[in-house]
Amino acid sequence: MALPETGRDRETLRQQMEARQQGDADWAEGRTWSLVYSAGEEVHDVRDEAYREFASENALNPLAFPSVLSFENEVVGMVADMMNGQNAVGNVTSGGTESILCASYAARERAREVDDVTDPTMVMAETAHPAWEKAAHYLGLEAIRTPTRDDWRADPDAIAGAIDDRTALVVASAPSYPHGVVDPVEEVAGIAADRGVLCHVDACIGGFVLPFLPELGYDVPAYDFSVEGVTSMSVDPHKYGYTAKGVSTVLYRDRELRRHQYYAFDGWPGGIYVAPNFQGTRPAGPIAAAWAVMNFLGRDGYEHLVADAMGAAEEIADHVAGHDDLAVVSDPDMSLLAIESTSADVNAWTVQRELSDDGWELERQQRPESMHLSAMAQHAPVVEEFLADLEAAVDTARDADTEEADAPLYGLSGSLDEDDEVTEALVDMLNDVFV
Ligand SMILES: Cc1ncc(COP(=O)(O)O)c(C=O)c1O
Repeated sequence: MALPETGRDRETLRQQMEARQQGDADWAEGRTWSLVYSAGEEVHDVRDEAYREFASENALNPLAFPSVLSFENEVVGMVADMMNGQNAVGNVTSGGTESILCASYAARERAREVDDVTDPTMVMAETAHPAWEKAAHYLGLEAIRTPTRDDWRADPDAIAGAIDDRTALVVASAPSYPHGVVDPVEEVAGIAADRGVLCHVDACIGGFVLPFLPELGYDVPAYDFSVEGVTSMSVDPHKYGYTAKGVSTVLYRDRELRRHQYYAFDGWPGGIYVAPNFQGTRPAGPIAAAWAVMNFLGRDGYEHLVADAMGAAEEIADHVAGHDDLAVVSDPDMSLLAIESTSADVNAWTVQRELSDDGWELERQQRPESMHLSAMAQHAPVVEEFLADLEAAVDTARDADTEEADAPLYGLSGSLDEDDEVTEALVDMLNDVFV
């Protein structure tokens, strides 16, 4: 590939982009159960107008663009309010992973500065998102993963047993991605507080759903800053907030905690450098789009979207509850479902593959062997069609002479989390995918 000698016309480029899209996951028709959150055309328009208007601005210097700073502060303020953080402060980051990097870094710096800990750990249930493991890996922290209870929620006793003088941060999920269950935050945060340790609640995927559930009649366990001992949180507008991708928020109970996240350097010939998060140049488009979409939707808009997503998830869960061969894993607190097989004749991964052949994108999970779906607002109209195809997929799986359980996962075989060869193969796969 090389840069074209002369520029191409816009129409040709548009056609090429549309042609390439044909091979992509079909989210617009509601057939993709992860990755893309869509609240419909009008919200897309609001989002895209704001994004376009601020596509050039740079939030790296908060003083150069007061408009962008005001959007960031208001997005953070609205999310902090949703999380019951009266004095909470925070920043916008590029995504859940960056928020997790920020919270991990702040905890590491605080452990060093305040507690003199030079080899800090982070303690979390095994269901915490891999971004925590990645943060530990990048930042030289040790991640200690503890077993969950039988219901896949974090086990407070196991977490208590893993805390020691080196612990910089304890993590709870609200909810965890694989099974959609909220960890017992009150117990976990209480243990952390008693031991003088920070506690982060990862509400990356739940933060724009859980706050709207009580008004819709659902019970939600306490999970936010109303729980004493919760010192930081992550909440992603770019997931169930239905804003443009590239926006998460990292929140701290107070300004003093957040201070450890910030970076400044004054020894550069080029002058001073300050950065609130891991980014340098900070795209303003996603921040403006988040501000616009959140204000456009408001509480009632989100309530409707949450009602649609929960309705879709419940319809599927109800169907599966009466099924001979399938079951929902545990008892999810929101619209994330893991569906496993309960019969020896049907393999959940074979069902997933059959659905995939029909154009439905679901994820495979390994513990338990299951398929994962995130029900979102755009899925409400397609549930019936999905359930019909699910039944057909189960029938095919029952008849299939398949050893799917031993078969490769995305082309890889081996015991996944205990086999270095698999991690090496995964890295090789990435290395092959990108030029
Ligand atoms: C609980 C949880 N935390 C963190 C993340 C990572 O977020 P991102 O993919 O935006 O980096 C996810 C993503 O699904 C998540 O579900």
